[in-house]
Amino acid sequence: MTDGTSEETPPPVNTIHVRENGPYAVAADIRIPGEEPLTRRTLCRCGLSKNKPFCDGSHASEGFNATGECADNESEPLETRNGPLNVTPTQDGPLMVAGNVEICAGTGHTIDRTTKTFLCRCGHSSNKPFCDGTHAKVGFKS
Ligand code: FES
Repeated sequence: MTDGTSEETPPPVNTIHVRENGPYAVAADIRIPGEEPLTRRTLCRCGLSKNKPFCDGSHASEGFNATGECADNESEPLETRNGPLNVTPTQDGPLMVAGNVEICAGTGHTIDRTTKTFLCRCGHSSNKPFCDGTHAKVGFKS
């Protein structure tokens, strides 16, 4: 931190915001295999980053077009809304997300509350932000 303090504390509510034509903005006690735990990460959802699973801005230069306003999933409020959030990029497939998390549209409203889900990171799902298996058809590699 530039102010000399140690890392910021994780938020009281774990969230993943789906950015319009862009990445996932994750705020939580994020655990990605092989990475230091951090409280904020921006993860690729277009499939074009050269630094997967992280966003490198390729969505903008490549013209990725995907709304951040996704359909709502009916869900109940979580008993606990924070805690470790494990985000695992699966081989040639989606991000496996395990832990308490609220998924939010780009404009901020909650579209799902879950403890486990699979988020598309190939950019081709017809059910964004969720994986629908299309990564296999399009030959996504990562
Ligand atoms: S990762 Fe995109 S459809 Fe599965």
